Amino acid sequence: MDNITIKPVTDDDLLDFAHLFWQYRNEELANEPESLSQKVCLEKALSNFEDSKKYQQIMRDDAVAIGIAEGKESNSGSYVSDGIFIVGYRRGEGLGKLIKQEQIKYAKDIGFPVMNGFVLDTNTASLATMRSLNIELIGKRAGYTFTIDLSQDLSVLIGEKE
Ligand SMILES: CC(C)(COP(=O)(O)OP(=O)(O)OC[C@H]1O[C@@H](n2cnc3c(N)ncnc32)[C@H](O)[C@@H]1OP(=O)(O)O)[C@@H](O)C(=O)NCCC(=O)NCCS
Repeated sequence: MDNITIKPVTDDDLLDFAHLFWQYRNEELANEPESLSQKVCLEKALSNFEDSKKYQQIMRDDAVAIGIAEGKESNSGSYVSDGIFIVGYRRGEGLGKLIKQEQIKYAKDIGFPVMNGFVLDTNTASLATMRSLNIELIGKRAGYTFTIDLSQDLSVLIGEKE
């Protein structure tokens, strides 16, 4: 894990961000009737990037982009996690957990009081990642929501050592 970095995206990250965004959306939509063309996805990634650039993060191993954490601000002023994505060939190494931890820390650092999110009940890997961080999941139709109070000391939740 020595060469792994996670940082907020900048304009220099746009192409890598868009590429991972496209992979993420197509994986998510693989079972849906329509998957996104690269062009549509790039347009969505661009608009997402411009609208809420400061809330997105990118993970690299040296220079290679291997994951993203997406978010935005809700109307009520909370940080909404739009999810995390790790490229397929790097899953199962603890990187999903790491980027989720960093996303939570980052949302707190930039001043949000609360993080909200939603996970589909069919998303075993995402549910396992949330549970491994002791994030409380509240059952709902077709999925689970979570709310993280960022005003608390998060060290226990995100498993930081003293
Ligand atoms: C969800 C995702 C980010 C997890 O990334 P990852 O790097 O493989 O996850 P980690 O290796 O950090 O695993 C975190 C925990 O979840 C568990 N886990 C991960 N994938 C799992 C799976 N498919 N089945 C069961 N448990 C799983 C791990 O064992 C680990 O638990 P532990 O800490 O108790 O050992 C990744 O699967 C992904 O990008 N999926 C596609 C995008 C997506 O669905 N994002 C979430 C939308 S809300």
